[in-house]
Amino acid sequence: MNKREFVRTVGGLSLGALFGERRWSRYAAMAPGRLAQDEPFWAEIRRQYLVTDEYINLENGYFLMQSQPVLEAFVGHVRDINRQASRYMRTRQYDDKAAVRTRLATMAGCSPEELIITRNTTESLDTVIAGFDWQAGDEAIMAAQDYGAMLDMFRLQARRRGIVNRVVSLPMDPASDEEVVQLYESAITAKTRLLMVCHMVNITGHILPVTKICDMAHRHGVQVMVDGAHAFAQLDFAIPDLHCDYYGSSLHKWLGTPLGAGLLYVRRDRIAGLWPVFADLSVTDGDIRKLNHTGTHPVHTDLGINDALDFHQSIGIQRKEIRLRYLQRYWTDQVRGTRGIILNTPSDPQRSCAIANVGVTSLEPAALARTLLEQHRIWTVAIDTAGVRGARITPHLFTSTAELDALVRALRTLAG
Ligand SMILES: Cc1ncc(COP(=O)(O)O)c(C=O)c1O
Repeated sequence: MNKREFVRTVGGLSLGALFGERRWSRYAAMAPGRLAQDEPFWAEIRRQYLVTDEYINLENGYFLMQSQPVLEAFVGHVRDINRQASRYMRTRQYDDKAAVRTRLATMAGCSPEELIITRNTTESLDTVIAGFDWQAGDEAIMAAQDYGAMLDMFRLQARRRGIVNRVVSLPMDPASDEEVVQLYESAITAKTRLLMVCHMVNITGHILPVTKICDMAHRHGVQVMVDGAHAFAQLDFAIPDLHCDYYGSSLHKWLGTPLGAGLLYVRRDRIAGLWPVFADLSVTDGDIRKLNHTGTHPVHTDLGINDALDFHQSIGIQRKEIRLRYLQRYWTDQVRGTRGIILNTPSDPQRSCAIANVGVTSLEPAALARTLLEQHRIWTVAIDTAGVRGARITPHLFTSTAELDALVRALRTLAG
């Protein structure tokens, strides 16, 4: 990212104005690794969010609160569209949505003709699972650590269309990419048609070697759908570089859009093969917009994506990813190896970013999360599924190292 990009407005507020031009040019020139540790810089970014002082929010994986500039712009869109009402819908909504789609596609590194704006990851991935041309006896592969809604959607296809689901279980701390690739490969049979893989596992923060998994699956003639709920706008990548056939994400998670925004990428040559869930016969079979006719919906949310993109791009994905990984390692490095504390996240820094999961051996996950909140004012979420037992810890750009110090103190106290 160049300096010009970094100087773009933050939802109407330039970073130059925010920091003052002299301070600003120092930050703009700083290597991201150094900037990641510059607390005054991030404290200024924190001031762009209305962070509650009632508790320390370390559960930003559900969805990310909008920054104030993005929120204010969104409220403006709600007012404008309410005033213009059907005139907006009849004259501008489609052009506006197309423009947002083009910007999102640029960020994703794909063609706008391979991407649609959805409400969330669930809608994106379920559109693929439901629209796939399944025959009875076809097989699909997924992991026990995948997201429940998608696992349910595959179970539904098993009941309705007679497909067979093969479920692998991911290692917590793999020694190599090949270990993970081989695990998926071992589940492939002559009947396998679709493999689902998380880009980042939500309960552990584990980043999977998606490109290698896609290449392996394609060698067997198997298509790959990636659950990117937590990766888009957290990690610096382009979707086509993953070599996947389908990719879904939620923009209200790491992009910080208004609630109810997501994306679905379908590789150009896979579009014609998918059946839409909602019919729209005004477009051809090869036009991805056939998957996007969901009826009247909150169009101001689509417009809010623009403002969230401004905010996100003013900081830059590289700076964001490096800061988020720094924050996670800041606290995990302090507790890794401590008696009574178990980290349920890979130890290799490249296999995780913001999200990590921690268990305390003397406490059930629910009791750990409850005690963190009641005794230490730290809000997290308990995870007790698929062999993962602990509290998921998800900092964001507004999280300070002082807050993570409080987490470390709390964990040490609880581990006794
Ligand atoms: C890995 C993963 N996939 C899918 C989803 C579903 O996201 P949404 O509720 O935004 O559709 C989540 C939500 O947390 C998730 O963590």
